[in-house]
Amino acid sequence: MLHPGLPLKLTTNNSLYRGNYDSKVISVDEEEKQLIISAPLQNGRLILLPVGTILKVRPAGSSEDLGFQAEILSRTFQPQRTLTVTLPHAISHSGRAKPQDGSQAHGHTARVIAVTSGKGGVGKTTVSINMGVALSRMGYRVCLIDVDLGTANIEFLLNLNPPYNIAHLLNGEKSIDEIIIEGPENLLILPGASGLDRLANLSQWQFTRLVNSFNKLDQISDIVILDTGAGISANVTNFLLAADEIVVVTTPDPHAVLDAYALIKTAAQKKEGLQIKLIVNMVEKASDEARVKLNLLKACQDHLSQPLTYLGAIPESKTVIRSIREMDPFISRYPDCSAATRLQGICSRLIGTKTKVEQEPEKKGLHRFIGELQKLFNASGE
Ligand SMILES: Nc1ncnc2c1ncn2[C@@H]1O[C@H](COP(=O)(O)OP(=O)(O)OP(=O)(O)O)[C@@H](O)[C@H]1O
Ligand SMILES: [Mg+2]
Repeated sequence: MLHPGLPLKLTTNNSLYRGNYDSKVISVDEEEKQLIISAPLQNGRLILLPVGTILKVRPAGSSEDLGFQAEILSRTFQPQRTLTVTLPHAISHSGRAKPQDGSQAHGHTARVIAVTSGKGGVGKTTVSINMGVALSRMGYRVCLIDVDLGTANIEFLLNLNPPYNIAHLLNGEKSIDEIIIEGPENLLILPGASGLDRLANLSQWQFTRLVNSFNKLDQISDIVILDTGAGISANVTNFLLAADEIVVVTTPDPHAVLDAYALIKTAAQKKEGLQIKLIVNMVEKASDEARVKLNLLKACQDHLSQPLTYLGAIPESKTVIRSIREMDPFISRYPDCSAATRLQGICSRLIGTKTKVEQEPEKKGLHRFIGELQKLFNASGE
């Protein structure tokens, strides 16, 4: 009954994209149990439904009971905007682009990764954005949150202009579905999270609202990346201590390396058993990478008894600078450049390293994170 050209009605209950959409069949692949349809429109407007969304699909004009449930497996933008969705009997949550480690994406709680540095300007935001896109491509649903309390610049760097932010959530005007926006390649972005520093001052009502919203975010994300500020103030370290794992970015510059060490020391003294990982950015020579890696790993082991997992290095690159000017992640615009290749390796290693929370699943997710964060902000009196 499904044939190319057949007009379709799509419905989804996905909390972010609830609605009815128009589409049509482009092709049917019975063998793979897949259907390719045109990207959905609502009132003539293109809707970027994310991979993993569950849809009710039915031929336009037919009754509800002729419909079937489908999951979006992938999207294409060139030469035509299309969605590949499952045909009946092929529903599977892990059916979207498979995570490359062969494991399933994490179900309904997110892995919270804080990206940080001792010194400012070493590339945290650049790494966070591109890592988000790379992980998203690997099939994970990724949400990027800018918790740098000084500046909220992810939206600006991606040339996005979100109408609402976390302040609208906390004052009750908007729900989390309404403030989250979709950036490049399915990456979800929660704008203006700088309000999170006032966690200790939130009313009970606001805190409950935040927890409920983060529970929703847990359900739609596999990985949450927090782009934090630099340094050792409680405004930064609280996010690190509450996260499941910490990615420290440094450059080979000795000042940046010393500040990275000071940050790791402060965090390790505040909490035992942290999972800390290292990326060296803006590397000009392989010997610089080797020096920083050796020095930091050894110092953390010898003086702090804090293991550090080395994720890899990203070269100093004109292509990276160009992509920042073009307001597009280098991993999307220049996927074959050396920075992109190295970053892909870093993401594979990041995913390959199991977190403690995976061994204790009940302890993971944004629900735990936000409770922990509030305790930390209360204790540090910020
Ligand atoms: N791999 C790289 N090669 C060349 N230049 C880079 C690279 N990574 C970052 N940069 C440069 O460093 C600048 C700062 O990067 P970014 O904003 O990501 O740092 P940050 O650590 O987030 O800074 P802040 O501490 O201010 O938040 C970029 O604008 C870019 O010019
Ligand atoms: Mg930054």
